[in-house]
Amino acid sequence: MADPSEPPRRVVLVGFMGAGKTTVAPRLAALLGWDHLDMDPEIERRTGLTVAEIFRQRGEPAFRQEEKALAAELVERDRLVVAAGGGAFAQPETRALLRQNATVAWLRCDLDTVMARIPRDGSRPLAGTRETIAALFAAREPSYRRADWTFDAARRPPEALAREIADAVFPGRPARERRRSER
Ligand code: S3P
Repeated sequence: MADPSEPPRRVVLVGFMGAGKTTVAPRLAALLGWDHLDMDPEIERRTGLTVAEIFRQRGEPAFRQEEKALAAELVERDRLVVAAGGGAFAQPETRALLRQNATVAWLRCDLDTVMARIPRDGSRPLAGTRETIAALFAAREPSYRRADWTFDAARRPPEALAREIADAVFPGRPARERRRSER
């Protein structure tokens, strides 16, 4: 993990598709007065391809390479909240990079919740049948468990979840600042 004696310089949200990483990241960043970045759209911007196109045209390993290269860049940036793609933290090298250089928060969700939230519009190449998603969900869990923090992301509105993460990761965050930034 990042040096626990130092205040966090960047926070990375990990978790399965549908956990709410993309929704929570900007809210958490607003509370902290930091920037935020979503890895998937950033990869799409850089490659000029959608995630689905990268998978289709270049294969999943190429997408994982893009993810790892972007993670390596992002851990050089300060005051940044990152919404990682659902598979990033399950890739050993990307996981090691993030664990060593960032505070990692797992947005934990049960299978039924993610099933209800994952859009079936072809944008997520790994969102197949309930059976294949369930298998991926189970296979990923041991990776996500290696995050520094775990938050229940299933039944809380994104604002409350962001506040909970901010309070946990920055326990000394002044109440005055909290009120101001949450208005
Ligand atoms: C993936 C999750 C997606 C995206 C890609 C692969 C995964 O991100 O990176 O489709 O392997 O779980 P979200 O978690 O933002 O949906």
